[in-house]
Amino acid sequence: MIALAPKPQPQHRVPDTAAEAATRHSTLSALLVEHAHRYHVDDAPTIPDAEYDAMQRELEAIEARYPELAATDSPSAQVGARGNSGFAEVRHALPMLSLANAFSDEEVAEFAARIEKETGVADPVFSAEPKIDGLAVSLRYERGVLVRAATRGDGSSGEDVTANVFTIASIPQRLEAANLPVLEVRGEVYMPRDAFERFNAAARERGERTLANPRNGAAGSLRQLDPAVTAIRPLAFFAYALGEVDAGDADPSPVPAAHSNVLQWLREKGIPVCPEVERVAGLQGLRSYYERVGSLRDALPYDIDGVVYKLDAYELQRALGFVSRAPRWALAHKFPAQEVSTTVAAIEVQVGRTGALTPVARLDPVAVAGVTVTNATLHNADQIERLDVRVGDRVVIRRAGDVIPEVLRVQLEHRPVDDAGRPLHAAWALPEECAACGSAVERAENEVVARCTGGLFCPAQRKQALQHFASRRALDIEGLGEHYSDELVESGRVRTVADLYRLTLDDLLEMKRAADERDGQTPATVKHGRIATQWAENLLDGIAHSRNTTLERLLFALGIRDVGESTARALARYFGSLDAVLAADEAKLIDVPDIGPVIAGRIAHFFAEPHNLEVIAALREVGVSWEETGPQRAEEGPLKGFTVVLTGALSSMTREEAGRRLEALGARVAGSVSKRTTVLVAGEAAGSKLAKAVELGVEVWDEEHLLSRLEGQSS
Ligand code: IVH
Repeated sequence: MIALAPKPQPQHRVPDTAAEAATRHSTLSALLVEHAHRYHVDDAPTIPDAEYDAMQRELEAIEARYPELAATDSPSAQVGARGNSGFAEVRHALPMLSLANAFSDEEVAEFAARIEKETGVADPVFSAEPKIDGLAVSLRYERGVLVRAATRGDGSSGEDVTANVFTIASIPQRLEAANLPVLEVRGEVYMPRDAFERFNAAARERGERTLANPRNGAAGSLRQLDPAVTAIRPLAFFAYALGEVDAGDADPSPVPAAHSNVLQWLREKGIPVCPEVERVAGLQGLRSYYERVGSLRDALPYDIDGVVYKLDAYELQRALGFVSRAPRWALAHKFPAQEVSTTVAAIEVQVGRTGALTPVARLDPVAVAGVTVTNATLHNADQIERLDVRVGDRVVIRRAGDVIPEVLRVQLEHRPVDDAGRPLHAAWALPEECAACGSAVERAENEVVARCTGGLFCPAQRKQALQHFASRRALDIEGLGEHYSDELVESGRVRTVADLYRLTLDDLLEMKRAADERDGQTPATVKHGRIATQWAENLLDGIAHSRNTTLERLLFALGIRDVGESTARALARYFGSLDAVLAADEAKLIDVPDIGPVIAGRIAHFFAEPHNLEVIAALREVGVSWEETGPQRAEEGPLKGFTVVLTGALSSMTREEAGRRLEALGARVAGSVSKRTTVLVAGEAAGSKLAKAVELGVEVWDEEHLLSRLEGQSS
């Protein structure tokens, strides 16, 4: 018999005595059983797949040398694991098998050579396929109708997941033009990568547990006892094999005689088949397929952990047959693992452009899916708390596609401890000060993300702060595009927005020359060129112009989180001067129409930060000024007491104009619909605000009615 087990790796030292071998065999067996249970039954593995594979291979190497240890219940003869899950048991008409694995080119060459030798065919044809990282299921169609879906389980019997599979949109419940008495289609249920990322982003937002990887996502979702839960988790399916087939008396059988033709036949019946499947010939074909799919891996919309080679002709497959757990005509060629373990050297905090703080684990360098990784995101403080990641911990990380590597879990059994057995490192706590600027860190109640409050001052937020400050609806500085605005910050010329007003013509020309030179443009013509001078003069003009502004624009321009134009306007009207806004505490701020406790808190935090006050003082110093009208609370007019919200597109004017005209008649214009709203003006394509207004019983005006009120009232 040809040994199916891949060659033992050099690091697997097979013990030289039978006694040692028996001990190691029993340790490995116990570990493999335990981890198979965690993987297949709990859907919560604690070690990376690659570590499991390595133990499996070591076990196989021991059994190759000491065959007496290969008892029939050895984990090397098992497929998956069976759990007590609450699902009905389904016996598979034909067992669902596993695949032999290869990790190196040599193993693939041995496989190809063996196939050639045993079939007597030179360069035989293979079906080469991505190895989808999901969960195997068998779909049973009777006379073209899907009657049962089962997981692989232990290979002989699995779990009845029919109700859950019915919720997977791409799995047809009826086959097109197919009324075979029995057709079992086997394949992989998987969670597409974007669905997985979306699911986790939403879970993180709600502070809930995230899925470790798309495979766990697929397995956990499919094995939900409530199909309604499965239905809201987007799963998909690729077919890769047949199970039991009864073609009835049809002669000849409608089922094609080669695997690749069967896949095409299934496709025509409406069953999804992976588009990357290819027919290739000989070892050379296998090699170039592995290369091609390997380079595609990061860009594929689903996770794969390798490729699978299958001898294409069924006749040849039958001739080669099976050994205990796998066909001898197929091989899984694994890619470098996407999940590996390493040690956390430090936990640092990064500050994003909007001030959001992201904790990052600095790692002992480790290769993941072919790339060396030294950092992994920990997302937010809640996530660290949930995982309880500490410095010195051994952690499992994952890198897949172009998504930032992340820490999945801690291997608690490796946590470093002191002599008394206590953990060496304390649980991590969110710092109270921003790592980039030293300003206070704020974390609102019910919010997952912590933020730096030094908005205008924080170097990490400078670019964003400057762009927002100069934008059309803020101080409206013409001529300051994103490119040069970033350049001003990067070259150190603008540290806070007040520095804009200190720029000279020479500063701008010099900055542009350096930037253009770096970007490969010809500086000589640029520096002295009329174009550059004109650009700089226009920009200085724009900056000078912006010196005279309004309180409402200034408040918006400061970039206080969640203070948009309408809130800035409400603040300006209510307080009438910047000093009055600065003097207001949270309780006072809540009195402002349309400002609730969350935004009141943000405003108060912003102005409590000394660095932000310094920037405001600097703006005054460089001559930025704004109208201060004094409080305008007691609006008079025919619409006094109306709180109006505008939504959708108006055809006769912009929403801003409508807002101004309504305010001129004494109405208050608010940004969102609440119980306090009197009227919703709904233009074209009004959406959720209209729905909310209807739900709350708020009066709704269309544009025609708005015009009649504006005209009728003002005349
Ligand atoms: S063929 C008799 N093809 O890998 C052959 N399996 O490690 C049975 N898998 O249980 C499997 N993609 O869950 C096959 N294109 C593919 C596959 C594939 C993923 C999974 C499947 C199987 C496991 C074996």
